[in-house]
Amino acid sequence: APKETDYDVVVIGAGPGGYVCAIRAAQLGFKVACVEKRETLGGTCLNVGCIPSKALLQSSENYHAAGHDFAAHGVVIDSVKLDLAKMQARKAEIVGANTKGVEYLFKKNGITWLKGHGKVEGTGRITVDGKPVTAKHIIIASGSDSANLPGIEIDEKVIVTSTGALELSSVPKRLVVIGGGVIGLELGSVWGRLGAEVTVVEFLDRLVPGTDKEVATQFQKLLVKQGFKMKLGHKVTKAEKTKKGVVLSVEPAAGGQAETLEADVVLVAVGRTAASKNMGLEEAGIELDKRGRIVTDAHFATNVPGVYAIGDVIAGPMLAHKAEEEGVALAEILAGQAGHVNYDAIPGVIYTWPEVASVGFTEEQLKEKGTEYKTGKFPFMANGRARALGMTDGFVKVLACKKTDRVLGVHIIGPAAGELIAEATMAIEFGASAEDIGRVCHAHPTLSEAVKEAALGADGRSLNI
Ligand code: FAD
Ligand code: NAI
Repeated sequence: APKETDYDVVVIGAGPGGYVCAIRAAQLGFKVACVEKRETLGGTCLNVGCIPSKALLQSSENYHAAGHDFAAHGVVIDSVKLDLAKMQARKAEIVGANTKGVEYLFKKNGITWLKGHGKVEGTGRITVDGKPVTAKHIIIASGSDSANLPGIEIDEKVIVTSTGALELSSVPKRLVVIGGGVIGLELGSVWGRLGAEVTVVEFLDRLVPGTDKEVATQFQKLLVKQGFKMKLGHKVTKAEKTKKGVVLSVEPAAGGQAETLEADVVLVAVGRTAASKNMGLEEAGIELDKRGRIVTDAHFATNVPGVYAIGDVIAGPMLAHKAEEEGVALAEILAGQAGHVNYDAIPGVIYTWPEVASVGFTEEQLKEKGTEYKTGKFPFMANGRARALGMTDGFVKVLACKKTDRVLGVHIIGPAAGELIAEATMAIEFGASAEDIGRVCHAHPTLSEAVKEAALGADGRSLNI
């Protein structure tokens, strides 16, 4: 690397991995620049991911509740009308405030935004739109892009990825979602609540693969109750645009009779792929795995000295908070500290109704590992607050080691599951036992009592069931 460099640290990509890493590095005294080609900072998450999707999920939930749930509370609304343009404008405002917020944080921390396309040339050297920049440490945080299906052409209007699905200007009558994963079910929920007839075509015989099976089964039942049509164990082989929309050819995954499905809008949500192309990685000799992800060691170092990678572009769950933790850990490692990410305690949340949240091992994983475990389960139906809220669907499940009582996994489907999982994550991070959770005083009446009760249940001593 050159002796005198323009920066100590240059981060490529200003998503949650990159921008958080840049801030932590600046806090630790490094001279930092962040390369971002988008017009706004914040990456996929703030611009076209986590934040806009959660804005629309909240708005569509309000719309649906006003039309369907308020009456049960004695709140009578004669007619509920949808102003989609306003809903979309609200979303855009929230995104704008968030991305501007990152710009402010860059200024506050003295981080330079190099606007343009970054390419890695080798140790210590990158280019931004062709202009050379030098740095002691180069961090690649280029994130991921939507995966495509062969033979299906995305136009972001009629056949869309999540990006187009966040921007629709009218509610489609029939929405077909390809892929029963997180994006398909969250964005399917948005448009379903606003009136679309949603059909999910999923290759596997279950939804949200990787999630605890018992939770996924309950989740599927509740989504079907809301009007979702599920075509599990099926794949889409063709999508043809017609004057009236799209005609899809759908086949059983195991082979068999093909059928056609008609849609006004098709959402392709079959996963995301690492953004590792067109940035000089092959030329610089940086090792990629079979799925195009950058290969790193336990300290986020690539095989090229001085070049590191974090977030969606490396292995592991494609989640904003995972990318952030890696960004902080790496900045600390570069400063000679002991940065570390505990991959056994990364929560995952699906922001549907009800929410689905989990941390640690699933029952299936424990069986596969041959770990002996005990289970405590508590339904929200038996929780006073859930009844008062009128939100009694779902349960909390605590999995603890049979021998030591240590909490190994917590899986929640129900109201505010995404908030409740924080307590379980803390418990796992601190190496707590189920009894530890069961002995903590939880406020009454709160949903969090269901977590305590499930923990007590691991020893057969739940109080309210
Ligand atoms: P990204 O956020 O993808 O950021 C990478 C940035 O790098 C981009 O801005 C890109 O423009 C820039 N870049 C790439 N290459 C270059 C280059 N060569 N030069 C300059 N700039 C470059 N995760 C959650 O945890 N919770 C959620 O609720 C959630 N919801 C989601 C909803 C949707 C619809 C989607 C699509 C994703 C969602 N995710 C969610 C996933 C989350 O967005 C990602 O895990 C997260 O953004 C990854 O962060 P990152 O920093 O690795 O990359
Ligand atoms: P995903 O991996 O969650 O789900 C993709 C689904 O598509 C899987 O169920 C898979 O079996 C199915 N599939 C694959 N090929 C198929 C085919 N040919 N036909 C039918 N089905 C097929 O991916 P998704 O939903 O696209 O999300 C991408 C990433 O974004 C996820 O890894 C997730 O972590 C992240 N994300 C996170 C959110 C959150 O944390 N709340 C929200 C949205 C996205």
